[in-house]
Amino acid sequence: MNIPNHIAIIMDGNGRWAKEKGLPRVAGHRKGVKVVRNITEHSVRLGIKHLTLYTFSAENWNRPYKEVSSLMKLLFNSLEKEIETIISNNIKFNVIGNIDELDSVILKSIRKCILISKDNTGLQLTLAINYSSRNEIINAIKLITNKVVDQLVNENDINEKLVSSNLYTSQLPDPDLLIRTGGEYRLSNFLLWQSAYSEIYVTEKFWPLFSNNDLEAAIEEYNNRERRFGKISEQYEN
Ligand code: IPE
Ligand code: IPE
Ligand code: MG
Repeated sequence: MNIPNHIAIIMDGNGRWAKEKGLPRVAGHRKGVKVVRNITEHSVRLGIKHLTLYTFSAENWNRPYKEVSSLMKLLFNSLEKEIETIISNNIKFNVIGNIDELDSVILKSIRKCILISKDNTGLQLTLAINYSSRNEIINAIKLITNKVVDQLVNENDINEKLVSSNLYTSQLPDPDLLIRTGGEYRLSNFLLWQSAYSEIYVTEKFWPLFSNNDLEAAIEEYNNRERRFGKISEQYEN
């Protein structure tokens, strides 16, 4: 099987899973964290190089205060608890998004995970937290504009590579496979620039029910896709 180099996942459906079971939404998020651990460890076993998980969008701040605060608590506790998992699996941990807006205690925990794993050579795990792809692109436009104003970059040198290198994901290749759980057919402001040629796989399964087998099924489906990048089939024969 051809294992995608970079898998990105929109982990959706925690709330609906909980509702179906008559539980509070936070119970879905709690179960969702366990799935993050399982899927991360399975990605290590499968030899995936990059795994990027949509954890909290910039728009998610608009949820009821109670849900936002339990999500933040859960994030903090998971980071503290899973440092061991990161180390023992040789995972290199990183975050994309506007993390400066996070609570300083969470930020400290994030920085600790990044620092402690910076020389690890296995799976690169990236959490998208307070992430908005449009904000990321606006931020890149500002960075590039400043460089043009300072005459460090010429307008004619603005190309795809330069834009990519000014995004939060500058150190990451584009995702090969983009998975969305929970059955919605939308990107919800995730990796808009980077997913230009990603294969998109949507499953009805809610994130708390997403299993190692489901990940493998998505990879299998990916293997059946023909990525043409604008060319025609015949150009890929032999
Ligand atoms: C995804 O699950 C987790 C976050 C967005 C933080 P949801 O909480 O969006 O679950 P649904 O979509 O309401 O079921
Ligand atoms: C996307 O899910 C964000 C995360 C999974 C973190 P949402 O539940 O916020 O997306 P919408 O609102 O259904 O588009
Ligand atoms: Mg949702």
